[in-house]
Amino acid sequence: MKRPKVTVVGAGNVGASCAFWLAVKEIGDIVLIDIPEFSDRTKGKALDLAQCGPVARFDSRIIGGSDYGDAAGSDVVIITAGLPRKPGMSRDDLIETNVKIVGSVAEQVGKAAPDSVLIIVSNPLDAMVYTAWKKSGFPTQRVVGQAGCLDIARYRTFIAMELDCSVEDISALLMGGHGDDMVPLPRYTSVAGIPVTQLIPPDRLSAIIERAKMGGGELVKLMGTSAYYAPAAGSVDMAEAIVRDKRRIFPCAAYCDKEYGVGGYFVGVPCMLGANGVEKVIEVDLNGDERALFDTSVSHVRELVEVAGKFIG
Ligand code: NAI
Ligand code: 2OP
Repeated sequence: MKRPKVTVVGAGNVGASCAFWLAVKEIGDIVLIDIPEFSDRTKGKALDLAQCGPVARFDSRIIGGSDYGDAAGSDVVIITAGLPRKPGMSRDDLIETNVKIVGSVAEQVGKAAPDSVLIIVSNPLDAMVYTAWKKSGFPTQRVVGQAGCLDIARYRTFIAMELDCSVEDISALLMGGHGDDMVPLPRYTSVAGIPVTQLIPPDRLSAIIERAKMGGGELVKLMGTSAYYAPAAGSVDMAEAIVRDKRRIFPCAAYCDKEYGVGGYFVGVPCMLGANGVEKVIEVDLNGDERALFDTSVSHVRELVEVAGKFIG
């Protein structure tokens, strides 16, 4: 039986944390790739992680370096290459540099692992997914962005803190772009099946939603760079759903044309992930207020993609 294989491009904070989660969950063999200047450092990270195997009890083969040839045969490629934001920066400030990085990575991955599913993590997320799609030449179904899994994990964490209950019982939905105007949806949030609106008063729920929306910025202020443990955990949840064909439903940045009337952009919507990548975009009913917030977020994504288009080449 062929062992599943996942490549992670960008072996920095998020990429190395992805490799860690992939190994601990024994999703498959792992390849870590970074720029040639960091080839030894990347090899070292892979070797260090491989040496956790006897303790953490996994048999994943893990290699690192800068050769895209090692990505051949990957089922999933997670792209985390690019600059993270520093205090005072927005995700959008990264666009010019990261379009060039993500574009060149996607082009190389497209050649080295032509049958893989791409999970994009680099920011600004929705524009980077678009860039990777354009440069990889992959069908839209096999290009998807990670943001919702993280944003929703933050939202679920804050709800669990508020209720002093298990995070496992909180089920939620969030849509739109990965910006401060993302749209958590209390109407689609429940705690063991109980609508969250019956458990948390409106003012507290609004404060939680606001904190979740600004969750990335809160961490940048605290850490001086952007988050990595939770973004990596979210990315690996997606990789697992694809590699194991679990058909799990997550909020992901998926290509929407007629769906939600988006008109040909990658934005955060509920999708089913399986062996073919995005198996299905699920259209839920949005009321007037929810629709207005979603439309605002999508128009921001459109503006970003327009800017990215100038640098995609
Ligand atoms: P980092 O600086 O720790 O790591 C980035 C890595 O990318 C570095 O090792 C760098 O050498 C590598 N890299 C740069 N150019 C490359 C190229 N052409 N080919 C291969 N590797 C290259 O940054 P961190 O914290 O890991 O963040 C990575 C990206 O992920 C950032 O753009 C950040 O904003 C984004 N991010 C996105 C999240 C999301 O939810 N979508 C959450 C957290 C971070
Ligand atoms: C986050 O939300 C920076 O996008 C990253 O933490």
